[in-house]
Amino acid sequence: MASLQQQLFVQKKSKKLLNQASDLALEYLETIENSPVVPSRTGIEMLKEFDIDLPDSIGDEQQILEQLASIGCHNTVHYNGGRYYGFVNGGILPIGMATRWLADVWDQNAALNVMSPIAAKLESVCEVWLKQLFNLPEKTVAGLVGGTSVASLCGLAAARYRQLQNLNWDLAQNGTFGAPKLRIIMGTQTHGTVVKMLNLLGFGAADIEWVECDDQGRMIPDLMPALDRTCIVVLQAGNVCSGAFDHFSQLIPKAKQAQAWVHVDGAFGLWAAASPRFSHLTKDVNLADSWSVDGHKTLNTPYDCGVILCADEQALTHALHQQGSYIQSSEERDSMMFTPDMSRRAKGIDLWSCLRYLGRQGIAELIELLHERASYFALQASQIGFKVLNDVVFNQVILQADTEQQTLNTLKKIQASGVCWCGGAKWQGKAIIRVSICAWATTEKDIDDSIEVFAQCLNGSAAGLA
Ligand SMILES: Cc1ncc(COP(=O)(O)O)c(C=O)c1O
Repeated sequence: MASLQQQLFVQKKSKKLLNQASDLALEYLETIENSPVVPSRTGIEMLKEFDIDLPDSIGDEQQILEQLASIGCHNTVHYNGGRYYGFVNGGILPIGMATRWLADVWDQNAALNVMSPIAAKLESVCEVWLKQLFNLPEKTVAGLVGGTSVASLCGLAAARYRQLQNLNWDLAQNGTFGAPKLRIIMGTQTHGTVVKMLNLLGFGAADIEWVECDDQGRMIPDLMPALDRTCIVVLQAGNVCSGAFDHFSQLIPKAKQAQAWVHVDGAFGLWAAASPRFSHLTKDVNLADSWSVDGHKTLNTPYDCGVILCADEQALTHALHQQGSYIQSSEERDSMMFTPDMSRRAKGIDLWSCLRYLGRQGIAELIELLHERASYFALQASQIGFKVLNDVVFNQVILQADTEQQTLNTLKKIQASGVCWCGGAKWQGKAIIRVSICAWATTEKDIDDSIEVFAQCLNGSAAGLA
């Protein structure tokens, strides 16, 4: 019997496994358009096959892949098709998918330049390109993290560091206990991840001053309290339900004048800045101090690709400071200085290839495509009896039926249809159906097919679908 190492060398030399994975993946892509958008009950039942004790002995690699594919392919959710409208989950550009395959084989750790010069180089190129696309200050630095949640954690950590430093409190030396009190100012429609990240940083409900929002989910500028240098203001480029943008031109200059720090959660909406047609939505957003944004939403990169952009390099790198005698820094950019994690996948490689492929024009066209599809969806939905509650300024649509119960029932049926999928939420205390157009693959035909299902579900004739 060959030793484990001998077996692994044999696997590594033969192309069998990678070819098998490639065949299985390509088969999956071929079937995706004609299979349910979300797993069926039978598919979910199959997951039980994974409930076994950890095996005692080494397995058969080909059988393992085969089992994974045969059950897994029935239990994925098809963001990379055209009829998934849930959350704000982007699709995946073919170039991103292919690059990720290649880069996964490279298996690079992006922590330090010395660990992966290619990862470090492409991240620094992405940093420059993102600054240019979003028209951010030249001094802005970028860190690549899992998603906007963690990007906001980084931005808020930098904010806390800088504001306390300005109050003569050395955070690294003294910690947070006993520190001068900071005030967090944000809209009642702020995304839940911001509160979660504030909690992680030691802020609680008592530290937050909520500002009322209008019917689109934008902070009402006149209700902003008086600000001072103890403040951290959190604004939004893209409300998770309505897609609305805060009034940056009115809010940010005022906040900066009062020496407050401004962080912008731009998970999917900051991309508006990269489109001549939509950049009015982000006018003056570049006056903020930090911004969080995702590649895996509007840009359709592979998961997981969040970015923290911060105009105060010292605040960010000091807030995320790490030391260790074995850390070999280089004169080039060391990525771990800009993120909470040390080891991580070199996601900058696939971000780079998506940006490199689309270029300025392609990015603008993608953003406009998502908007066009969202507007078309809203129009069609209104014609079959749904109320559209938001101004469709970007890629999000909020729908409601006549009564609360009808909205809830309709949503349940849509989710069970298998033809398309969208999520629900509460908007001004009432149930809504959220439609997020975030995949490059959504066509007008996808929307027509979905609208047919929406109509059947609204009118109660959807039994038997899927
Ligand atoms: C406005 C906003 N902020 C933050 C997030 C969280 O982003 P992520 O899931 O990438 O952490 C989302 C997710 O949809 C969002 O829409």
